Amino acid sequence: MPELGVNVDHIATLRQARKGKIPDPAEAALICEKNGADSIVAHLREDRRHINEGDLVAIKKKINIRFNLEMSIAPEIVGIAAKLKPGQATLVPEKRQELTTEGGLDVAGNLKSVSRAVEILQKKGIEVSLFIDPERKQINAAVISGAKIIELHTGRYADAQNKEKQEKYFQEIRTAVDYALGKGLVVNAGHGLDYQNVSRIARVKGIEELNIGYSIICRAVFVGLERAVREMKALCV
Ligand code: PXP
Repeated sequence: MPELGVNVDHIATLRQARKGKIPDPAEAALICEKNGADSIVAHLREDRRHINEGDLVAIKKKINIRFNLEMSIAPEIVGIAAKLKPGQATLVPEKRQELTTEGGLDVAGNLKSVSRAVEILQKKGIEVSLFIDPERKQINAAVISGAKIIELHTGRYADAQNKEKQEKYFQEIRTAVDYALGKGLVVNAGHGLDYQNVSRIARVKGIEELNIGYSIICRAVFVGLERAVREMKALCV
């Protein structure tokens, strides 16, 4: 049964619509914790479009479960993470124009800079996860980088337009999980997972945690965050 990490970025997106104080991502994080979340995820983007540094401090102070800071390897952001010392950092690629994280981190193509960020963060006692596409080349590079955890990008599976493609991308994830476990890595997964497509991924043996944001916050608009988290948690079996 995989753990559930809930991403609260889009609570901050709503707040930024009016650049006010509500809704508060830290308050949301506590509601997620009380309703079954095993960790809280927040992404401090370089452009600060939703989560800001104050949110990180407030979330860390408020929650009792693991705080997983999603972040790029930009030196400014690595510096902030090293000071904040969340329990975990997940390194992701970041482009200014994208709506959300597109594709995994190219660890193989940026081995030196990724390894350096891994080393700086691990020296501060932060567990480091690399968000990568489900490909052998990236898994091999993750091992070399010194990271002990990977998060496999489930976006291709989640966004597949027909059953054949979804099956193909599902098998790609399954194969990658087995390969990464064989290399001694802890394997998480996430991106694009929702109430319809999560069950198949949740049943893949060896995945320790699923990180889910958008679909939970969207459901919360209609049923409340408590119920939205509880429903997703119930599907992670
Ligand atoms: N995992 C990572 C590394 C991500 O970048 C994101 C998106 O912020 C998620 C999981 C959650 O994706 P979604 O919001 O589509 O559930």
